[in-house]
Amino acid sequence: MKPIESIMRTAPVIPVLVISDVARARPVAEALVAGGLRVLEVTLRTPAALDVIAEMRKVEGAIVGAGTVLDPASLERAIAAGAQFIVSPGLTDTLARAAIAAGVPFLPGVASASDIMRGLELGLRHFKFFPAEASGGLAALKALLGPFGDLRFCPTGGITADNMAEWLMLESVTCVGGSWLVKDAMDPEQIRDLARAASNLAKPTV
Ligand code: 3PG
Repeated sequence: MKPIESIMRTAPVIPVLVISDVARARPVAEALVAGGLRVLEVTLRTPAALDVIAEMRKVEGAIVGAGTVLDPASLERAIAAGAQFIVSPGLTDTLARAAIAAGVPFLPGVASASDIMRGLELGLRHFKFFPAEASGGLAALKALLGPFGDLRFCPTGGITADNMAEWLMLESVTCVGGSWLVKDAMDPEQIRDLARAASNLAKPTV
């Protein structure tokens, strides 16, 4: 199994995190891990993000990656901060080649057949389907699975507790991602409860 696949199989949901206050990093990560969600995507959308990654790495059981990685320079910074995997909203040759050269598990975003074919040319077989709902939702991914059914996807963008189970029913959907689990106003208990509810919706083994 490719390292990115084993990360995708660790939990049914990857919380997409936008954290501005580094003091929140550990309590948030601890709450998510306690709720059963061990794979955490810290988006590089706040000045604190790299410090948040480093802090979350200290939480036992957490697998911490960087999201919103847009170029090789950010990739390098994220790896230096301790990121164990890299997520990008899109797929460019320069970023993909840098991730492959660094040997870091990499999950780039795709929303079309051409995006996927560019990824295949680079040897990639695991993709974030982004933005999942706005790109046509389940119907769009199902159509793409015609030619690309043996690839594996993590739909993100518009996924919630209410629709995640439908996505996870698809064999090619290994996990989903979403920001609904952690908002600024939430306390750790709330986050743990949302994580627990989401992790209980794990894909049934048929
Ligand atoms: C992402 O970066 O993957 C998305 O912003 C998450 O989308 P959501 O906020 O709709 O969950």
